[in-house]
This record gives sequence, C-alpha cells and structure tokens, in this order.
Amino acid sequence: MLKNVPLPNFNDVSHPDDHLELIEEANERVDAFTKNRRDTIRNFVVSDFELVGAAIQWLVENRIPCGDSFLEWGSGFGVVTMLAAIEGMDAVGIEVERDLIDQSRRLAEDFDIDAEFVEGSFLPDDRSVIESVIQDFENVDIDSPSAYDALGKSIDEFDLIFAFPWPGEQGYFAAVFDHFAADGALLLTYDGRNQLRLQRRE
Ligand SMILES: C[S@@+](CC[C@H](N)C(=O)[O-])C[C@H]1O[C@@H](n2cnc3c(N)ncnc32)[C@H](O)[C@@H]1O
Repeated sequence: MLKNVPLPNFNDVSHPDDHLELIEEANERVDAFTKNRRDTIRNFVVSDFELVGAAIQWLVENRIPCGDSFLEWGSGFGVVTMLAAIEGMDAVGIEVERDLIDQSRRLAEDFDIDAEFVEGSFLPDDRSVIESVIQDFENVDIDSPSAYDALGKSIDEFDLIFAFPWPGEQGYFAAVFDHFAADGALLLTYDGRNQLRLQRRE
C-alpha cells in the first residue's frame, strides 16, 4: 500500500550553485540534442530540474529516505540522477534510449559526478503486474529487456525512486512501485505541471 507523504513548498528555496551550474549546461545540451536529432524521441521531455533537485536536497537533509540508494526510472538526460548524486546518494538512472544514456554519461563525466547509467527498461522481467493497468499508458516502452540484471540490483534495493510519468500514467508507475519496491521505499514523481508527489510503501 502507498501512503502520501506531505512535501513543503519549494517555490522560494534558493538552489545551490552546483545544482544550477549542472542544470544550465544540461538545458543547453538538451536544446541542442533535440534540435539536431532527425527523429525525435517521442517519450522524452525533461522535468523541472530546479524543483526536483530542491526536493531531493530536502529529503536527504531531513533523512526521509531509509537509506542512500537512488534510482531514476526513465532517466532521460540523467540530470535528476546527477542531482541525487550531488546530494550524496548512490545514484543510478535506467533509460531505454541509447543516445540518452550516452548524453547522460558524457554530462556526468564533464561535471565529475559519480552517477551510473544503465541502458534498458526500468520494468522488471516479471511484467504480470502491468497487464491489469496496460490500457492506462502509451509512453512507456514495455517491450525492451529489463536493466536490473546488468545493474546487479533489483527494485526492492532502492530507497528512493524518481519518475516523470506522462499525464494519466502516474497510477501505472505507482502500481509497479507498489508491487516491486521494498517496505519503506519512497516514490517521488513529477507531473509536468510543477507538481511533485511523494509516496511511501508500507
Ligand atoms: C518524460 S521523460 C523523463 C526524463 C527524465 N526522467 C526527466 O525527468 O527529465 C521519460 C523517459 O523515460 C524513458 N522510458 C520510457 N519507457 C521506458 C522504460 N520502459 N524503461 C526505461 N526508460 C523508459 C523515455 O525514453 C524518456 O527518456
């Protein structure tokens, strides 16, 4: 079962320089990447990095997660994973698009950030749970092989998972999390309209 955990308002917080420097460079690279690609990656849009970074900083400072293991589901350009690493978490991003994995690794290397990026699906090999909710989503790749074998870790080993589901797909991400995550693990989601949601598995 998932329980909502209240979050403070992050609108007026001041963002640390290391967050802002990374985000500024990332936004430029995302723009260039998007303009220069002949075929767009349909499912790729970026979240509000300042907002998500502030939330992760607050979570770490207040020791809300049970441990320091962080995972981003569909990590895109990898920026949220890197912000979690800056905040001291042991941070991994899983992304199905090879080009985005390459961009993430390059950005992390250029900023000397210790974050890991694994190509593959954030869905586990056992996809029975998605059968009941499959009509609810269209922006998640459900065919690619799972990344957890290559990662050497499973979903229930992560303390904090972040995702940016497309509109209408939040329930699906929550169902996967509820099925596979550990008791006490946290799911942080961004909804594309400046809203964050935090849920704890109990
Ligand atoms: C809405 S974007 C969010 C990107 C990033 N998390 C952010 O907040 O900026 C969703 C990402 O999930 C990726 N994706 C879709 N299905 C996936 C799957 N099954 N496994 C891993 N990544 C997936 C897409 O390629 C895309 O980059």
